[in-house]
Amino acid sequence: MTIILGIESSCDETGVGLVRLGPDGAVELLADEVASSVEQHARFGGVVPEVASRAHLEAMVPTMRRAFEVAGLRLSDVDAVAVTCGPGLAGALLVGVSAAKAYALSLGVPLYGVNHLAGHVAADTLEHGALPSPTLALLVSGGHSQLLRVDNLAGEITEIGSTIDDAAGEAYDKVARVIGLPYPGGPPIDKAAQRGNPAAIPFPRGLTGPRDAKYDFSFSGLKTSVARWVEARERDGEEVPVDDVAASFQEAVADVLTAKAVRAATDLGMSTLVISGGVAANSRLKQLAAERCAAAGITLRVPRPRLCTDNGAMIAALGAHLVAAGVKPSSLDLTTDPALPV
Ligand code: KG4
Ligand code: ZN
Repeated sequence: MTIILGIESSCDETGVGLVRLGPDGAVELLADEVASSVEQHARFGGVVPEVASRAHLEAMVPTMRRAFEVAGLRLSDVDAVAVTCGPGLAGALLVGVSAAKAYALSLGVPLYGVNHLAGHVAADTLEHGALPSPTLALLVSGGHSQLLRVDNLAGEITEIGSTIDDAAGEAYDKVARVIGLPYPGGPPIDKAAQRGNPAAIPFPRGLTGPRDAKYDFSFSGLKTSVARWVEARERDGEEVPVDDVAASFQEAVADVLTAKAVRAATDLGMSTLVISGGVAANSRLKQLAAERCAAAGITLRVPRPRLCTDNGAMIAALGAHLVAAGVKPSSLDLTTDPALPV
């Protein structure tokens, strides 16, 4: 039996997770503690890197203590440490990597520097078990929007598409600002959209022309289009129908994400789609993905929202897959890479 400690600090969430790797390769979740600095960034409308780094430093040890308490474990029970070494904010990543090195060195256990994006995919194994090979993953959050072909979580992951400008969550956050909803914009837009008409305004679907990249995304034009539409209304002294704008914007995002994901899975012969990242909590995205996957004969897997947003458990889970696959640990010279590719 092996206990893996996972540490996540790539953005504004300090995450500490503990998992148990069983002899059969099954990974069991023991603790998943997260401290978020999101409220400290709210008045800026986005994550402020310096504020995030300081918050990680303050939260790291208390979050660690809580995780061990919840799991009923002691530090000396840990057999390996996994930590996000990229992609993410440089200063934020450094806090987690420094902490992980200190724990690994003092405990005399192996250290695994892991990729945050692969961690998001690994999160689903905590809820739904091992992934079939190959699996298509759609990662949608404030920092990333990607389609990944996952042959093996322990190393064979290929990017087949990504956003060429804003991430989907970033578009939610920016549009929320335009229509006067709070940060982060995903949850309030999702809520307002329930009351609005998704067909009220025909916002553009980015990169869906016949000559556009088949599996890439673009959300910057959509965001600008929403801003122009709202500005025109305000200029004319008309009230902005917030619920309709939210619903129409949300429909454009969910439409493009699900259409491209289902198309990629079908074209490339993958029969399972995993959606993860903060935006995977979106009600319309989940609904449309379920409809379109069912129609195309694709199995849809979406972990619960808590596992979709940044957390340490997904990093511990990925560490467990690396241990199980016999992957060589990182050295204590491990560094961070803010632009680490998958
Ligand atoms: O994965 P996450 O917690 O952090 C990273 O960005 O890595 O994702 C946060 C993003 C934010 O942009 C937030 O607005 C978005 O996920 N989000 C949502 C919903 N809940 C959170 N977007 C759409 N619908 C939601 N229900
Ligand atoms: Zn993330």
